Amino acid sequence: MRLTKTTFWGAALLLACGAAMAEITVTDDDGNSEVIYDVGKLHVAPGAQITYDYCTACHSEMIIAQQGQTREGWDEILVWMVEDMGMGEIVEEDRDLILDYLATYYNPDRPHFPQN
Ligand code: HEC
Repeated sequence: MRLTKTTFWGAALLLACGAAMAEITVTDDDGNSEVIYDVGKLHVAPGAQITYDYCTACHSEMIIAQQGQTREGWDEILVWMVEDMGMGEIVEEDRDLILDYLATYYNPDRPHFPQN
């Protein structure tokens, strides 16, 4: 890792908080990549961090991990979160990333259904 001022203070802050998480960059087969620092129990893959950041403001990520939906199903859930649950509008670009992540890793085959 290149030690820039920001990463230095970021690392210092993490250590100060006693957090065990370290930043890692993940890349999938399509070449999408994302820096992951904390995604709780979500499957680590590109899109996990943005999903975690947007979706755990009100509830645990376990609520998400226990679901298995198609992209359309997730799309409806996102509409529901925004229209009825008080979630702020999600920027289109971010929304696509979240939907891609959810439909890939939390689809009806439930490849990452939580075990505990
Ligand atoms: C502003 C608060 C808020 C945010 C942000 C939010 N949710 Fe929710 N979500 C809720 C509430 C409240 C419930 C409980 C609804 C209920 O069970 O009646 C819920 C429930 C759910 C459920 C469970 C539905 C079910 O059938 O039990 C899923 C799945 C879900 N949210 C997904 C998401 C995803 C994905 C995101 C991020 C894109 C997200 N939520 C962001 C408030 C929020």
